[in-house]
Amino acid sequence: MRRYFVGGNWKCNNTIAQTQSLINTVINRLVFDVAKVEVAVAPIFLHVPWVQANIQKNVQVAVQNTSLTKMGAYTGEISVEQVKDFGIPWVILGHSERRQYYGETNEIVGKKTRLALDHQLKVMACVGEKLADRESGQTTQVIQAQLDSIKKELTTEQWANVVVAYEPVWAIGTGRTASPEQAQDVHAFIRGWLKSQIGAQAEQQTRIIYGGSVTEKNALDLIKQKDLDGFLVGGAALKSAFTDIVAAAHSSR
Ligand code: PGA
Repeated sequence: MRRYFVGGNWKCNNTIAQTQSLINTVINRLVFDVAKVEVAVAPIFLHVPWVQANIQKNVQVAVQNTSLTKMGAYTGEISVEQVKDFGIPWVILGHSERRQYYGETNEIVGKKTRLALDHQLKVMACVGEKLADRESGQTTQVIQAQLDSIKKELTTEQWANVVVAYEPVWAIGTGRTASPEQAQDVHAFIRGWLKSQIGAQAEQQTRIIYGGSVTEKNALDLIKQKDLDGFLVGGAALKSAFTDIVAAAHSSR
């Protein structure tokens, strides 16, 4: 049985005081069994040291991006070696906001994923279609191309450290969640892709999590879907709703 995974993507939100408050009032009060659910939160880089020093031990820390380049003369970047050196286990890569606003192509996301895994980081790899893709019947083609670009870079073994996050772009931050059936359809497609392209072990063991306007209200219905193994949460991860979302995953394991 796959262990559920719930990620909190805090994006470029929060002052120091707001992050401290979120940790103290929400994250450090989460009660869950790590054998059932893995929980990771992703603050901005600057807040990571404080978060690491003050977070309860059951919750892991993630970053929201790593550089395409290794350590060196790359002004403004933070590299995989530096993230690893800080003892940070997870990185979110290929988020649609990175693709949309910072020009990250499928190829870049594939290469970043490889670099992170080569440096013993674990990756939440995000895929998802835009509204126009869905409306023109291109959803699975778009997702397949995103997955193929990651596959091109990885060894079969490296998939053991990848969580795939299905995040339909039209559902991110819009309040318009994919229905449980819409989510399940795509999750099943991704699982089928894992089977045919990577192998039976990846098919059975890879967590496929859903993101896009997940709230405490829709989490229970979504998590009941067979191929849905957790969530990547944005807006609702910044408030007490996150407690209920973790509880929803926990109660169904
Ligand atoms: P949202 O964001 O929950 O605010 O829609 C999800 C995400 O971008 O990971």
